[in-house]
Amino acid sequence: MPRFLRRLFSNQEATHAKKETRSVPCHVAIIMDGNGRWAAQRKLPRTAGHQAGIVALRRTIKHANEMGIGILTVYAFSTENWKRPKPEVDFLLRLPHEFLKSDLGDLHKKNVKVTMIGFMEGLPLHTRNAVSEAVGVTANNTGMVLNFALNYGSRDEIIAAVQSIAQKAVDGEVKPALIDEQTMASHLFTAALPDPDLLIRPSGEIRLSNFLLWQLAYTELWFTDVNWPDFDREHLEEAISAYRNRDRRFGGIKF
Ligand code: FPP
Repeated sequence: MPRFLRRLFSNQEATHAKKETRSVPCHVAIIMDGNGRWAAQRKLPRTAGHQAGIVALRRTIKHANEMGIGILTVYAFSTENWKRPKPEVDFLLRLPHEFLKSDLGDLHKKNVKVTMIGFMEGLPLHTRNAVSEAVGVTANNTGMVLNFALNYGSRDEIIAAVQSIAQKAVDGEVKPALIDEQTMASHLFTAALPDPDLLIRPSGEIRLSNFLLWQLAYTELWFTDVNWPDFDREHLEEAISAYRNRDRRFGGIKF
């Protein structure tokens, strides 16, 4: 290799190595997409794709925890998913119970704290009970936060926040002129969480699908063609490595 090229490469490696020492993202959000296509490619029913999605979720939780990620938010059921055929909706809404029945003990042992964002009251009782139990059992845990977005839709979340703030203004508890970002953020489901640092979407779709629209304002986005059931440690590492090499300026400039 010519000397000038070697110098260029070693400079790049040095820069890369320097950036690689940066910490992992605190909050990673994932749109677990591509279960249906994964199943179709194998001539399996869509439900088999969702079952394989649970396996991918289980290993991603393990890897995220090992890598020191602080918060893992996973999009499990959107307010738009109700448009699917009833048998698939019913199946999807049984998954939290199925997953937590088998995994809650292990999650608790690993000090994982389970939380949920979304419209809880719209969910069937068995889903609500499973999630409430997991949230209750792990409430005092201090390790990674595993945050399920269930019956979640960002536009409805923002509307609900605006309605609540407007009511407080009518009641004289909030001055309209003083409503700021913090007021909005504190009325969202994610009030207790920092915004995601990194959003991962598998399956080749490059859109946000009504997920955390307010919270993703300065989040780094990473997309892969791999379907969610095939998502593995190497993909999470690739996403984190790409994240580490991003220049996050939050609208400012580097001095
Ligand atoms: C999107 O893929 C996936 C979902 C709507 C469900 C996600 C659920 C899991 C990954 C299982 C784990 C969930 C819990 C709560 C334990 P899709 O069906 O839209 O795939 P397609 O776009 O290829 O059809």
